[in-house]
Amino acid sequence: MARDFFAEIVANEAVAEKVFRLTIDAPTLAEESRAGQFVHVKISDELTLRRPLGIASTASGVKIFYRVVGRGTQLLSRRQSGERLNILGPLGNGFTPRGDKVLLVGGGMGLAPLLCAAEQFTADVLMGGRNADEVNFWREEFHTRAEKIFLTTDDGSVGLYGFVTDALPDILAANHYAAILTCGPEVMMRGVARLAAAKKIPCEVSFERRMACGLGACLSCSVDTADGRKKVCKDGPIFAAEKVFGGERDE
Ligand SMILES: Cc1cc2nc3c(=O)[nH]c(=O)nc-3n(C[C@H](O)[C@H](O)[C@H](O)COP(=O)(O)OP(=O)(O)OC[C@H]3O[C@@H](n4cnc5c(N)ncnc54)[C@H](O)[C@@H]3O)c2cc1C
Ligand code: FES
Repeated sequence: MARDFFAEIVANEAVAEKVFRLTIDAPTLAEESRAGQFVHVKISDELTLRRPLGIASTASGVKIFYRVVGRGTQLLSRRQSGERLNILGPLGNGFTPRGDKVLLVGGGMGLAPLLCAAEQFTADVLMGGRNADEVNFWREEFHTRAEKIFLTTDDGSVGLYGFVTDALPDILAANHYAAILTCGPEVMMRGVARLAAAKKIPCEVSFERRMACGLGACLSCSVDTADGRKKVCKDGPIFAAEKVFGGERDE
């Protein structure tokens, strides 16, 4: 159940250019969170709206990874250990738990909720980023949590040169997965969903929309699905790929 509470900041450190790892002391949140859920953070009294951030780890404190993209995340990057943050969460539905091994496919900050999935499920991960700086810290984070790590970069500075969708067909040909869970840019998730559908592998996608209330009350995060209009904050952020991308196949 979502709670509105204050948590102490344990650490708030830069791990790559403009990317930070925030650790908060929130044992009840850690206990109650499922992979794929998020928190709505009141960063500062200067901002009216909270900001949604994915729960990336619940193993040792609650960890959140965020990229500085605007005023809210910039203010968050200045918060110090020992200060307290107002948190609303856990929010959203989370990934469907699976007994057998899953493949996690993520790009950029989309890897954050997948890290939590690697903690809670047996998983391999296929990660993509622009360059080595963008993926190296993720590689370290997934190292102890995922079984196999596959890597692509747009500039080929580490891993396979190209996008995750270039590497995916060979990985699916060589391995068996109960499901694919994906988070990242929508164009990437659409490509992943198409390849999963062609192999008849269930695929779940994590959606992002700008949010206000985070509780299903304001309609600012609506998305059209095969089951009608849904709210990403309450009905999502995790959706079956065929419900949001229309079950396109690449056959
Ligand atoms: C469920 C959910 C989970 C998220 N998890 C993470 C996470 O783990 N790590 C992370 O770095 N970010 C995550 N985000 C995105 C994060 O919420 C935004 O980057 C953040 O709110 C931006 O706040 P800001 O004040 O810094 O930027 P703003 O000044 O509000 O915006 C700066 C730029 O970011 C864009 N933007 C803002 N919010 C969103 C959004 N929700 N989706 C797409 N673009 C947006 C704006 O269009 C604008 O271009 C998540 C979003 C959602 C909905
Ligand atoms: S953010 Fe208000 S309904 Fe989703």
